Amino acid sequence: MKRLSLLIILILTLSVGIVKAGEGMWIPMLLQYNEKEMQEMGMKITAEDIYSINHSSLKDAIVLFGGGCTGEIVSDQGLLLTNHHCGYGYIQKHSSVEHDYLTNGFWAMNRGEELPCPGLSVIFLREMRDVTKQVLEGITIDTPEDERKAKIDENMKKIKAQIEKETQYKIRIEPFFLGNEYYLMLNEVYTDVRLVGCPPSNIGKFGGDTDNWVWPRHTGDFSVFRVYADKNGRPADYSKDNVPYKPAKHLEISLKGAEEGDFAFVFGYPAHTNEYLPAVAVDQEANLIDPIRVDLRGKVLDIYNKYQEQDPKVRIQYAAKHANIGNGWKKWMGVTEGINHFHGVEKKRAFEKDFQEWALGARNRYMYIDLLKDFKKNYFDLKPYELAYTYLAEAGLRIELINFAGRFARLSEVTKDTPQEEIDKMIASLKTASANFFKDYYEPIDREVAAMLLNEYLKAQSADFRPAFLNDIKDVDSYVDNLYNKSMFTDEAKVNDLLDNFKANKAKKLANDPALKVYQSLIGFYRNEVYDHISEINTNIYMKGQMDMQPDKRLFPDANFTLRVTYGKVEGFKPQDGKTYKHFTTLEGIMEKENPDIYDYVVEPRLKELFNNKDYGRYADKDGKMHVAFTASVHTTGGNSGSPILNAEGQLLGLNFDRCWEGTMSDLIYDPDICRNISVDIRYVLFIIDKFAGAGHLIEEMTIVE
Ligand code: ARG
Ligand code: GLU
Repeated sequence: MKRLSLLIILILTLSVGIVKAGEGMWIPMLLQYNEKEMQEMGMKITAEDIYSINHSSLKDAIVLFGGGCTGEIVSDQGLLLTNHHCGYGYIQKHSSVEHDYLTNGFWAMNRGEELPCPGLSVIFLREMRDVTKQVLEGITIDTPEDERKAKIDENMKKIKAQIEKETQYKIRIEPFFLGNEYYLMLNEVYTDVRLVGCPPSNIGKFGGDTDNWVWPRHTGDFSVFRVYADKNGRPADYSKDNVPYKPAKHLEISLKGAEEGDFAFVFGYPAHTNEYLPAVAVDQEANLIDPIRVDLRGKVLDIYNKYQEQDPKVRIQYAAKHANIGNGWKKWMGVTEGINHFHGVEKKRAFEKDFQEWALGARNRYMYIDLLKDFKKNYFDLKPYELAYTYLAEAGLRIELINFAGRFARLSEVTKDTPQEEIDKMIASLKTASANFFKDYYEPIDREVAAMLLNEYLKAQSADFRPAFLNDIKDVDSYVDNLYNKSMFTDEAKVNDLLDNFKANKAKKLANDPALKVYQSLIGFYRNEVYDHISEINTNIYMKGQMDMQPDKRLFPDANFTLRVTYGKVEGFKPQDGKTYKHFTTLEGIMEKENPDIYDYVVEPRLKELFNNKDYGRYADKDGKMHVAFTASVHTTGGNSGSPILNAEGQLLGLNFDRCWEGTMSDLIYDPDICRNISVDIRYVLFIIDKFAGAGHLIEEMTIVE
């Protein structure tokens, strides 16, 4: 008895001392509030070392890459690392049959060989400021929504105008905590970014879509770029006279690897999360909307697969589309499964019970009392519009012909008063779009997809929740035949002819193209019948309530594509009873997966040679093996791709590139027991650069800590 209670006391004290890893995406300028916890978990550096405006800090090495991913600077010559799947589009643009960098990889052996990437930019955050007070000036909890929006716009304009006078930087103001706080970012945008190197796809994309979202994982998901600046280190468009950018700080790289339980943090640009929704919204997303998306996308992918297996050319044409559609398809399966398996909706309901009691507990909480009851009704009313939106996006606009035709909507509205300069711009960008479209278009796939999706659309949506064109369809097959035979957008020669000889008097005829009319019908329905409903529910006050109710709990704001720090531990997990995942994978696993007949699992002969000779140089782990990827309990989401994962000293351990799909519900609810991010081990990255590609000159630029 006595021993038992001692044991209990011991467990209790231990568990009080142990901080649970994981949840939260923290604002770097407020990191001093997390510092103690981070240090208790093992961090050796300070919040100031991570974010400071008084001296150089890790933040000076982090960029928003290409508007959708994260990148980090790893040398004093502007060398940058991000994921292979983040650089993919730029690698593809430089690829041709003669120079197939996607298949073979690419390595610039000197600065002169680096490839400019028009359109690619990276953004450095120079400073962040809390502007909540100024943005919300003149607004109270009782201000009506319309008035609130207008006032906020006005206040933001004022702040921007004022700051513009004192800064050379680009200003961005964003709402945090669903509009309860506002922060201003001063950014610097660099537009001369060049491709330095990338591994072949069967390293950079090893495992392909088959392994996407899945652990164990063996993808060498990295690519290398360099940022250029003018002679003063300021942003400048591409020029031969530009010089490598000298950052205030670049990341040190650790060759020590990480042990299970080690502290680790990710520093990057998570895109969107929804952690503070009411139970009814989570239920709707996970159990109504996501399953429909998964079902429709699954059916599209089945058709793609059928044709891709028959024809190698089609396989390549549809590879990127397949990857795109498959990425959401797999992720949403994980969300539904995760929410249900881990009782996400019930957990939210339990919280709401407490919230309601709290709201009733004091008179000045009157504005919270009806919230949950109202949500129930509002989300119920919202349902048909959410469904309408889902079908619009996943069925209507998924049809390639319709989507492509939609690109010409603006051109079809040209009149004789439209300035020629504007028309020329449209034509130029449509020429590029059209060349890209036809390069990868295979009409038989699109026809079959269209027939399938229109049938699904008609089956699922009643007449008053359909765009008008659907209600005119009598027989889907003959409708599709007619549409594809009559529209000009299936015919590259016709489209080119239009673009080469366009005059304002041709706009009318263009507007009458049947595929463009379908597009207009879809968009018109969205604008007139759907948009107002889905943008109506306001969760701003509920967010404020959750903050008021838990004054001692530090809440983190939902991701919004701003720079965040998120931390946890390097660790594996138990996805199911009887199943445990180790926290790392090795080159052995690549050899196990090898299958020359399966595209995703082809292994490069040179990689095999290095493996057979165990020629790992200084990049092997102390267990003698080449570690490839590892998992950690760090809260990440889309946009964190390419983000550095750093150790207790703030040195680079790897690049984040994915999550385990069992935990993709973390965008709605984070569970530290099951949510894991996946990173490629930096030692594998360096091994590929150095030993595989022979680009050791890049390693010499880096600061390596052995
Ligand atoms: N799932 C990762 C993300 O959400 C990686 C996607 C790219 N990789 C792929 N095999 N499709 O973006
Ligand atoms: N692969 C994702 C991206 O491109 C990151 C994975 C995630 O969603 O966590 O941003």
